Amino acid sequence: NGNIEPHTYEEVETIANDILEKVKCRPQFGIICGSGLGGLGDLVSNKEIIPYADIPGFPVSTVPGHAGKLIFGDLEGKKVVLMQGRAHLYEGYAVQRITLPVRVMKLMGVSVLIVTNAAGGINPEYSVGDIMIIKDHFNVPGFAAVNPLIGPNDERFGPRFPAASGAYDKEFRELAKQKAKELGYDAFVREGVYTCLGGPSYETVTECRFLRLVGVDSTGMSTIPEVLVARHCGMRVLGLSLITNKCIVEHDSKAFANHEEVLETARMRTNHLQALAAAIVKAIKI
Ligand code: 6GU
Repeated sequence: NGNIEPHTYEEVETIANDILEKVKCRPQFGIICGSGLGGLGDLVSNKEIIPYADIPGFPVSTVPGHAGKLIFGDLEGKKVVLMQGRAHLYEGYAVQRITLPVRVMKLMGVSVLIVTNAAGGINPEYSVGDIMIIKDHFNVPGFAAVNPLIGPNDERFGPRFPAASGAYDKEFRELAKQKAKELGYDAFVREGVYTCLGGPSYETVTECRFLRLVGVDSTGMSTIPEVLVARHCGMRVLGLSLITNKCIVEHDSKAFANHEEVLETARMRTNHLQALAAAIVKAIKI
C-alpha cells in the first residue's frame, strides 16, 4: 500500500534544529501554498530561504507551479514559515514523507497551519475563481489505508487514535469569513467540504457525481495528509481552496479538466487569495 515507516521523533528533531541553526526567524505560523499559489511568499519580508533540496528527507515537488522553497520571515507582523510548493501522492511519494515538513514545522515552534490548494468545483453553485474556506474533508485515500499516521505512533507527536472531526478550526473559519467581508470578497468566498483523491488523473463523471452525493464541494489531490498530521500534533488549522475549474458531470461533455486551466485561474485569483490569507494571519492572535 506504499506506506513507509515515518521519520522518528529524533530524526524530525534533528532536521528542525539544523534548520533553526541556519535561520534567525522563529516561526509561529506555517503556510503551505497550493499549485500556482506560492505568490504569497512575495508578501513575506526579511526573507530567509532554504531550498527543499538542502533539507534531508524533504520531498521535492516535480510539478510546474511548485517552486520547492521554504521561506522564513515576517508576514503582517507575524513570524511565518511558508512552503512554496508541496509534494503529492501522485508523484509517488509515500504519504508519510509528504507530511514530514509539517512535523518539522511543529518542532520549530509552529502552532497554526494555513494550507491552500487549487481544486475542482463539485458543488454546481460554485464558479471558477471562487475561494472556499474548508470546513471538513472527505479522505478518500484513507479508505484504502493511505493515511500519514499509519505506522508506529510516537505519543510525543500525538495520540494513536486522533479525532479528525473538527479539524478545521471554527474560530479561524469565522475570522476568514469576516475578513472576506471586510475585503469585499463576499461574492466569491464560500465555505465547504474538500476531498482529496490520489490523482494524477482527474475524476470521471461518475466519480464527480458520487462525490456530490456524499456532500463534497471541491476536489483536489493534496492537503488532507498535511492537515491530519498537523491536527495529530495539536496545531490549529485553516484551509483555503481556490476553485480553478468546474468538474465535468455530464457524460459526453466536450470539456476536460486540465492543469493549464488550473494554473490560469490561480494566476487570476492569486492576489485575492494572498490578501485574504494575509488579513487572516494579521488577525489571528497567538
Ligand atoms: Cl477537477 N480534480 C482534482 N482531483 N484536483 C484538482 C482539480 C480537479 N482541479 C484542480 N485540482
